[in-house]
Amino acid sequence: MPTKAPGLRSREWLDTPELYGWLRRAALRSQGFGEQLLDDRPIIGICNSWSELTHCNAHLRQLAEAVKRGVWQAGGLPLEFPVISLGEYNMRPTTMLYRNLMSMDVEESITANPLDAVVLLSGCDKTTPAMMMGAASADIPAIIVTGGPQLKGEWRGDELGTCTDCRRYEQELRAGRITQEEWLDLQGSIIRSPGHCGVMGTASTMAAVAEAMGIALPGNAAIPAADSRRALLAESAGLRAVALAQENVRPSAIMTPSAFDNAIRVVHAAGGSTNAIIHLTAIAGRLGISLPLSRFDELSRDTPLLLDLKPSGRFLMEDFAYAGGLPALLAELAPKLDLDAPTVSGATLGANIEGATVHNTDVIRAFGEPISPEGGLAVLTGSLAPNGAVIKTSAASPELLTHRGRAVVFEDHDDLLSRIDSEDLDVEPEDVLVMRGAGPLGAPGMPEWGFLPLPKKLLRRGVQDMVRLSDARMSGTAFGTVVVHIAPESAAGGPLAAVRNGDIIEMDVANRRLDLLVDESEIKNRLAAAPPKQVRRSRGYGWLFEQHIMQADQGCDFDFLTATGFADNVAT
Ligand code: FES
Repeated sequence: MPTKAPGLRSREWLDTPELYGWLRRAALRSQGFGEQLLDDRPIIGICNSWSELTHCNAHLRQLAEAVKRGVWQAGGLPLEFPVISLGEYNMRPTTMLYRNLMSMDVEESITANPLDAVVLLSGCDKTTPAMMMGAASADIPAIIVTGGPQLKGEWRGDELGTCTDCRRYEQELRAGRITQEEWLDLQGSIIRSPGHCGVMGTASTMAAVAEAMGIALPGNAAIPAADSRRALLAESAGLRAVALAQENVRPSAIMTPSAFDNAIRVVHAAGGSTNAIIHLTAIAGRLGISLPLSRFDELSRDTPLLLDLKPSGRFLMEDFAYAGGLPALLAELAPKLDLDAPTVSGATLGANIEGATVHNTDVIRAFGEPISPEGGLAVLTGSLAPNGAVIKTSAASPELLTHRGRAVVFEDHDDLLSRIDSEDLDVEPEDVLVMRGAGPLGAPGMPEWGFLPLPKKLLRRGVQDMVRLSDARMSGTAFGTVVVHIAPESAAGGPLAAVRNGDIIEMDVANRRLDLLVDESEIKNRLAAAPPKQVRRSRGYGWLFEQHIMQADQGCDFDFLTATGFADNVAT
């Protein structure tokens, strides 16, 4: 059968003379799509991570309707489909265990179906990187629309953002400065609209990353979920998806090495989440782009921190939107960006931000008047982290960034929870809290346990922060002098497994060092005497995860999902 829309991928499904070509048309007609819609319209998939188990994404069905309006207007045929969703609060032990699974679902759902382009709807922390990883691997035209941040929470005159302020008030509760009744009252006040966490946590950071990379439309990062402009943006994405399909503009043409540099600059300028480092590394791996940890640090050193948002700063995503959103931040950051980078809008990044202005210089600082001349994240290496570790300097206590202290070691998260508040715990404010067994293999799944709670007895003495180290991740909404992503992790035989109570640990962020001040031969002897934990799962997804998960410095992707695949990763 001759095709009326040559070049469209979907025609291979609908125009084949086999019975299945006829059946596919019958199936679409059974859903009420007229025959005239099936001949030459690009088919635009709407890949939806809506779920009532993911409260941040619970409004994405409505947003999908806006995307459909755009697709219809541009002459396409929209078809919505579900993928697994990852709800940060509900999933145990951690959504990170399932990010790669979701990325596989996205990739395979796209490639197996008659789609000419896809609009990806995401929001909560892991759903955006999983969508970007899957779309990168599928490499058919794609555009991402994130669900937008929540409106500000409000409690007794205090403006609140999840979950930075949940953590802050939990600390107040543990210190006895608020009551259980007040804590419950706050619970009903903090999330008052659809959308993802309203601070510059992982969800907001990844929404900004998507916009900075050009795979989302201008304005995507900050428009609140409840703002009517979010639906207009989704409608525009539907319109653009049809054009991307017709022009066959693939993610690999958008997510180039310079787009990654632009995204990394934005993470630093925004005081973004440490998790962005892992996710960007994984997305790059899907495209065959090398993104070593050192690149994040290089760009951090000359990227000014411009955005004053919690958890590093004072304001919330809603304030960011009204201050001009990401286009305004990009306009300030323009001297450090590749403005010729192409984007899914059809224009370059530079053209996208023409005329963008800052409406509140308290929220978005001028390029020449930064909060800090350097970015908000730093990469450390040393005898305790041979393959790297990450600290969010913008959320740390400046006086602790150069620190030497005695290690107080917790074997794993359970050990931490059982002893941290014990009156018998031998701990002083200048000590270094160390937790191991929380990495990709050890936990498994590398949960966000890195924000180790401060011992109650020190909280009562007024201690607000301590140096804390682990092979876990940290929520993008958390704060404090917290070193995470130590690689290799303890369960993979990293030196973190060798630390003993009373050892001296030295951190020197200015010189990017993290060292265990124990003789090298002694570290080797200790590691030899305590071999890493063995694989614990014998079946299913858990088994697959443990067999193929890579370390934090490699993005925690599965070795067989990178552009070069398993053989290459084994060989290296
Ligand atoms: Fe979904 Fe924070 S819980 S973004």
